[in-house]
Amino acid sequence: MRILITGGAGFIGSHIADACLAAGHDVKILDDLSTGRIANLPANAHFVEGDIRNAGWLTERVREFRPDVVSHQAAQTSVAISAREPVLDADINVLGTLNLLNACVDQEVSKVIFASTGGAIYGEVPDGERAQLDWQPRPLSPYACSKFAGEGYLECYRAEHGLDSTVLRYSNVYGPRQDPHGEAGVVAIFSQRAFAGQPLNVYARVAEGDAGCVRDYVYVDDVVRANLMAIDGAFGQSIVNVCTGEGTSTLELAEAIKHHAGSKCEIGFGPRRPGDIERSVLDPGSPPPLGETVSLENGLKQTVGWFGENA
Ligand SMILES: NC(=O)c1ccc[n+]([C@@H]2O[C@H](COP(=O)([O-])OP(=O)(O)OC[C@H]3O[C@@H](n4cnc5c(N)ncnc54)[C@H](O)[C@@H]3O)[C@@H](O)[C@H]2O)c1
Repeated sequence: MRILITGGAGFIGSHIADACLAAGHDVKILDDLSTGRIANLPANAHFVEGDIRNAGWLTERVREFRPDVVSHQAAQTSVAISAREPVLDADINVLGTLNLLNACVDQEVSKVIFASTGGAIYGEVPDGERAQLDWQPRPLSPYACSKFAGEGYLECYRAEHGLDSTVLRYSNVYGPRQDPHGEAGVVAIFSQRAFAGQPLNVYARVAEGDAGCVRDYVYVDDVVRANLMAIDGAFGQSIVNVCTGEGTSTLELAEAIKHHAGSKCEIGFGPRRPGDIERSVLDPGSPPPLGETVSLENGLKQTVGWFGENA
């Protein structure tokens, strides 16, 4: 198949590109390199640099390549930036997405895979619970709002134009190539700091000194597998939680990374950061459509090892 990957020079998109090429697909990557990197691009993928906000240019690129499937990973991905600049966030994540959907309808693309956020869209998940697909989303940041809007437009374009789509709600993704300078990449940040012997800071969930917020950390290989399954039409439903269903506190994560890096760095404690969701754990479904996921132990081993060699 011909697969167009927006944001394919980024962390997750570049892994999807590698896997699509390995599966024998013809891959084109479209990215403005705002956070993505040329170094992430697979050697045998076609690459075009540009911005999804440029509707005319985007439609031309889709027309040229005539993809069967579009994997839409490009986005403004920082919750903090979205809070400071909600209009910028909406420009890229809502209007950019709409430009892409219009180009897909125009070129009769069969399917769009949309990278949404399970980590942000459900809001707070109470202790002992896991966010289920039928929960009403409670977006608490402009980023979560813009992703939720993207999901809504996909539903609308399915009804109005017959455009097939799958929404993948990723929990907190980690793995090799994640940008440690990004604001969501705590595993990348801790890995780099552990190797540099710098302290790992645990921001409070409620009060300074506690174990920090709880997240559902999913390894990038599982996210890639979910994308390949979606491309192959494996999901009988249009929205999937891409997650492990396991909650891990920031302190547990810091200790595990320190261990894998063989580091003597300190673990420090900071105050609660305004706007941080206290707990986010997702329900993988029963039976989970993704099957077994990589354990945090194995995923961290791979990731920390990669940062040890590449940091
Ligand atoms: N990393 C996570 O934990 C996580 C969790 C939930 C959802 N997601 C979603 O997964 C997708 C990939 O995220 P990532 O972590 O790989 O982030 P990333 O920043 O590494 O990748 C995003 C890519 O999109 C590109 N991009 C940004 N704006 C663009 C624009 N206007 N035009 C063209 N390209 C543009 C960037 O250059 C980058 O290569 C995003 O849609 C993100 O919202 C990520």
